[in-house]
Amino acid sequence: MDWGLKNRLSRIIQPDGRVLMFAVDHGYFLGPVRGLEDPKKSLEPLIPYADALMLTRGLLRNCIPPETNTPIVLRVSGATSIERDNLPDEGLTVSLEDAVRLNVSAITLSIFVGTEHERQTLEALSELVDFGEEYGIPVLAVTAVGRDIGQKDARYLGLACRIAAEQGAHFVKTYYCDDFEKVTGSAMVPIVIAGGKKIESEIDVFQLAHDAIQQGAVGCDFGRNIFQNPKPEAMIRALRSVVHDNKTPKEALEMYNELSKVTA
Ligand code: R5P
Repeated sequence: MDWGLKNRLSRIIQPDGRVLMFAVDHGYFLGPVRGLEDPKKSLEPLIPYADALMLTRGLLRNCIPPETNTPIVLRVSGATSIERDNLPDEGLTVSLEDAVRLNVSAITLSIFVGTEHERQTLEALSELVDFGEEYGIPVLAVTAVGRDIGQKDARYLGLACRIAAEQGAHFVKTYYCDDFEKVTGSAMVPIVIAGGKKIESEIDVFQLAHDAIQQGAVGCDFGRNIFQNPKPEAMIRALRSVVHDNKTPKEALEMYNELSKVTA
């Protein structure tokens, strides 16, 4: 790995080997998702607690102050919407020159392994990796599951993560599942987990993060479970304590409850 690529990746995955990424890229196919109707207002108090932000160039240019030092993981794929049943039919939507212009720390796209669009998304990944290697920009592959969320097992997720790594992805975002250590154990590269739909109880969110890390994930890239929480600042700060301070879910819940009394 070249120095520039390593340097950018080390801005995202922290010196303790862990990362709490904050995913706010949902609008690229969901539009004004609940909790991000006014992204500038929602995100401003939360940015200081994220190790990296995952978002689109539109949200970045419109809502994130250019003075921010939080590393940016830029989504460069899309061109589909929730209005149609074709979410896997994604393509690259951002010129790589624009990613450089935006000074991002990583670029990301979804791959849809096992769908009729598997080939196009894997070829797009390869294109990004060629670019990333040339310019020193790490590539995050997201093993997207569309509406099958919660239904994919360790065999499928292990396959998708390994294929991403074999194509050259520098780190991979996937979903937690039973026997998750089989996924992390064969992936070859760091794995972060997505949160998925808003989970009813806070302790279950902390448990998810805790279990994934215990089974080899380097951290989380959560979105809705942070910005749709009634106390998002308390949530992101308590999640940090699980990711970086090895707090148990119970300890994180106590922290969340305390912070909920004093944060907006
Ligand atoms: C996944 O493909 C996208 O990056 C999503 O926008 C992101 O993963 C969603 O995060 P969460 O499931 O935690 O809301």
